[in-house]
Amino acid sequence: MKMNNTELVNNTIEFVKEKLSFESTGHDWWHAYRVWKNTRVILQNEIADNIVAELAALLHDIADHKFYDADHTIGARVANDHLMKLGMQKNKVHHICKIIESVSFSTGTVPRTVEGKIVQDADRLDAMGAIGIARAFAYGGFKGREMYNPDIKPRVFANPGEYLKSDSPTINHFYEKLLLLKDRMNTKTGQKLAEERHKYMLKYLEHFFNEWDGK
Ligand code: ADP
Ligand code: NI
Repeated sequence: MKMNNTELVNNTIEFVKEKLSFESTGHDWWHAYRVWKNTRVILQNEIADNIVAELAALLHDIADHKFYDADHTIGARVANDHLMKLGMQKNKVHHICKIIESVSFSTGTVPRTVEGKIVQDADRLDAMGAIGIARAFAYGGFKGREMYNPDIKPRVFANPGEYLKSDSPTINHFYEKLLLLKDRMNTKTGQKLAEERHKYMLKYLEHFFNEWDGK
């Protein structure tokens, strides 16, 4: 079976929807959808292999998080099987799988190719701004964490994966990760969009602390 690019995208949308429909840790289908949309916006200003970036965006969180701790390569393997079944060129499939392995913040790596850099930016944008705030509190609730506790100060982590083990209140997550993302964008468009979302988060925090103290 050999598909054209539109068919590849549509088929992959259906595949991801089915796999991630009831995911509640912030990696559901709609996260994949938004990262794909962000990727398409960034692609307008970059010279890249669009289909590689779009499919990598759709598939970047395909790994079932129940298995994630045990096996970090499962996402790339699921994506590989899916794309090979669709008859996609082997070298492109390989490239997409490499991107999936390297985009996560917790890996602390920057993908080598422009397509990987675009998807990483697109993924990071979805952890920022209004959506990023919603995701942070949804995740904190899922983990049973406090929203905020003035007695627990944010921490600076020596390595990027360390924050995953942190069970600090959700507001601390802004200082431990979300506010750091603006300076880690790879592309110009990503940087510009991150700037807006960053400002929005700062404004949000200002209101949050004012309201906390009854102001
Ligand atoms: P990535 O997709 O880069 O691997 P994560 O899996 O770390 O990102 O995070 C997924 C979502 O959950 C993000 O929006 C992130 O900000 C949020 N999140 C992760 N850790 C925390 C935390 N300790 N508190 C609140 N939100 C978190
Ligand atoms: Ni993601």
